[in-house]
Amino acid sequence: MKVTVIGGGNVGATTANVIALKNFADKVVLVDTKEGVATGKCLDMMQTAKLLHIDTKLTPSCNDYNKTKDSDIVVITAGMARKPGMSRTDLIGVNSKIVKSVMDQALEYSPNAIFIIVSNPVDTLTYLALKDSGLPRERVIGMSGLLDGSRFEYYLAEELGCPVGDIDAMVIGAHGDLMVPLTRMATFRGVPVSEYISKEKLAEIEHATQVGGGTITKHLGTSAWYAPGAVVATMVQAIAQDTGKTLSCIALLDGEYGEHDVCAGVPVTLCKKGIKKIVELPLNESEKALFQKSVDSAKETNAKLAEALKA
Ligand code: LAC
Repeated sequence: MKVTVIGGGNVGATTANVIALKNFADKVVLVDTKEGVATGKCLDMMQTAKLLHIDTKLTPSCNDYNKTKDSDIVVITAGMARKPGMSRTDLIGVNSKIVKSVMDQALEYSPNAIFIIVSNPVDTLTYLALKDSGLPRERVIGMSGLLDGSRFEYYLAEELGCPVGDIDAMVIGAHGDLMVPLTRMATFRGVPVSEYISKEKLAEIEHATQVGGGTITKHLGTSAWYAPGAVVATMVQAIAQDTGKTLSCIALLDGEYGEHDVCAGVPVTLCKKGIKKIVELPLNESEKALFQKSVDSAKETNAKLAEALKA
């Protein structure tokens, strides 16, 4: 199993590191355009190999796509990260061109790979990667729902004072402030969290989840990387090991949830070919309306793509 991670910044390097720590891949190639970045980070990680029992081989590449040849999975994290006060959509001008260019180069060397898009605005850049490459939807997946769900589960566990492993919760929709935390379906050891947490508090937690990425960006001056990196590694592992895991991922909708020709976060069963199945949740009317609004926001961003690519 060969995995390429494009972009050696915080998210890309953390992704490579967590994949290596999980020890399921033979090889991870980390690609960056800046001289020394991938080399330095891979050396640093490889020097933890004995300490952390890493058998995965990490290989740096300074924009040399030949080294990525025949990857099974390619992760695209390249592009600018948010600064405080910026929305993810503000990144479309810079990141759409970067994602298009790295997708073209990576696909040339790994024509059979599965692609995971992480760069923001991620719903729209997943759509771009799909349309530009002409690949089937099974092979181009975006990362966000599992990240937003992890944040949601963290806030719920903090409120209940329980281990986060006792919480099961999901977020669907576009990766923006209109994402939809599915509170009605969130459980503490199988029991709806609404049995234990007041309506008001749950509304606060939903909001904290929706602005979860922005909160970290405000603290750090740049966007998060530990949780995004861990989430991408989890998605890569689910695909690599073909475990049949269902995770909230961005997928091209083709009739599911009544939507067409738009990428948004929905529960996806992953397999070694990428997307095995999109799971349709039994949403109630208000959840459907929130999901629709969220998907509409992704469509609005998609409409800006052509202009962004021209500019
Ligand atoms: C975040 C970035 C990955 O939410 O969008 O942290």
